[in-house]
Amino acid sequence: MEVTFYGHACLSVKTSGKHLLFDPFVSGNPLVKDIRPDDLPADVILVTHAHGDHVADIESVGRRTNAQIISNYEIVTYYEKRGLKGHPMNIGGQVRMPWGTVKSVIAIHSSEFPDGTYGGNPGGFVVSNAEGTFYVAGDTALTLDMQLIPRTSPPLDFAVLPIGDNFTMGILDAVEAARMIQCTTIIGCHYDTFGYIEIDHQYARKAFADAGMQLLLPAIGETITL
Ligand code: NI
Ligand code: MN
Repeated sequence: MEVTFYGHACLSVKTSGKHLLFDPFVSGNPLVKDIRPDDLPADVILVTHAHGDHVADIESVGRRTNAQIISNYEIVTYYEKRGLKGHPMNIGGQVRMPWGTVKSVIAIHSSEFPDGTYGGNPGGFVVSNAEGTFYVAGDTALTLDMQLIPRTSPPLDFAVLPIGDNFTMGILDAVEAARMIQCTTIIGCHYDTFGYIEIDHQYARKAFADAGMQLLLPAIGETITL
């Protein structure tokens, strides 16, 4: 699978010939200099929750690509009212798509659109197909529910975890999360974008290495193959 990081919590995973785009947010990200919403490829847009730093570019990418939005019922309904197409889920449910299965899993956070509309419950996703299995946690605290993931899904090849602290897990909680999900290849996200979530990269990498895991911090625009 090819993973391209677009800053903050926005990334695309190319798998089964499809671009799965998570939490599109490049406009308004002060760290993103030369990537515009029109540069984001998407066959499917997966949305973890309704906060502005996760939904900012959904409308423009959705209109350009006609991608299917997969998210909770409230978020999908919000975009369907604006003429986009989607597939609604809720926590605990799994759906089989032509390119793989998607399971909606718990995230401990909040979820409200920038305009004040209720955004349903926040969540994460476990995506699985013949190429592999990965977990995108979304904005979340460390929670014991993460232990259920290796008990109910195929072994994870990689996971995307927030590490910026303040609004989500910080580095040490993310190490514990990686233990719970039994995954040793972690892509860090949700750090450095704003002053509240700046981290020490060297400390973060060492904390994971000391636990026998690898923390990947791809540059914005960088593609890695996992
Ligand atoms: Ni959030
Ligand atoms: Mn966020």
